[in-house]
Amino acid sequence: MIDDPMRTLLKLVSDDGKNVAVRLAAAQDFSRQAASAKLRAAVAKGLIAKTGVGRGVEYTLVETSRVSEEYDRAGLSEDRVWQSLLAPIVRDLPENVRDIWRYGFTEMVNNAIDHSGSDKIKTWCARNALYTQVWVSDDGEGIFNKIQKALQLYDPREAILELAKGKFTTDPERHSGEGIFFSSKVFDLFDIRSGSLHFMHDDGRDDLLIERPKNAPGTLVVMRLQNDSERTTKEIFDKFAAPEEYTFAKTIVPVKLGQYEGEKLVSRSQAKRLIFRFEKFRTVILDFAGVEEIGQAFSDEVFRVFQKAHPDTSLVPVNMTAAVKDMVSRAKAG
Ligand SMILES: Nc1ncnc2c1ncn2[C@@H]1O[C@H](COP(=O)(O)OP(=O)(O)O)[C@@H](O)[C@H]1O
Ligand SMILES: [Mg+2]
Repeated sequence: MIDDPMRTLLKLVSDDGKNVAVRLAAAQDFSRQAASAKLRAAVAKGLIAKTGVGRGVEYTLVETSRVSEEYDRAGLSEDRVWQSLLAPIVRDLPENVRDIWRYGFTEMVNNAIDHSGSDKIKTWCARNALYTQVWVSDDGEGIFNKIQKALQLYDPREAILELAKGKFTTDPERHSGEGIFFSSKVFDLFDIRSGSLHFMHDDGRDDLLIERPKNAPGTLVVMRLQNDSERTTKEIFDKFAAPEEYTFAKTIVPVKLGQYEGEKLVSRSQAKRLIFRFEKFRTVILDFAGVEEIGQAFSDEVFRVFQKAHPDTSLVPVNMTAAVKDMVSRAKAG
């Protein structure tokens, strides 16, 4: 087991490999000597590696395991990939962490199988003393292009808004549109890259690297979770369920995603983009973080016109500036 000072040390190394002894001494109220001894112990245990000398000394987390495999998509099953590739790597981790990996990994491999149209699917799994990181990649149609085409969206960035809402699927006969929504919330880092776009981001550094050109075709999903995470899949499902129910009834929509660079949210057509499919939820939390102001027509379309047409969906605006609050109140009073 890793004790708390060691965990702090590993996190410091993960953030930045330079000046670790000084930063560790400050973080733990250790002497420089005690911090250096802790660093030597971590190296001896094979948790971190040291390169360079003097001022050039740099520490990195050691990869304790790494596997990768390329599969033919035809005939592939996500359970088989889980069993043969990732399950052995996370076998000794706590049950809640294994459950998260099983859920997210099989959902993302299933997506590559069912939605990408790619001939090959490739996946990498790597683990260090702090976290495990997994990549699932295909060279198929590309997720944002596929959604853009299916919804005839003007801009592929609108696909990201639809994924953020959840319950979006291009194959309603066989799918429910929950995999990306819940996976994106259950990991510490979850990132989908396709073309030049990213879905969802985290400030964490990409310590573990894979070779993939930036303009590669297809879709790449990156997932990362601390090995001692206390999160559970259940707590994430419960967060978006109606009370006493197990259905996916609630969503949180970052309104900012409806706003492109330098654009203000003023028009009814912008509002219609935002409220598209809201009626599939019982509660929609509208997170206005990062939105300074909204226009009267935009607000009216969301909070009066939509609300009147869909009284069973409750809209809950949060993180409003005074200006936004004012516009919302005006629309509701109208
Ligand atoms: N690897 C992929 N390549 C192309 N499109 C994808 C890929 N993964 C997901 N998608 C698109 O994203 C949608 C949402 O995925 P998801 O949230 O897992 O829901 P579901 O699989 O139930 O449809 C899919 O319906 C599909 O249109
Ligand atoms: Mg899916």
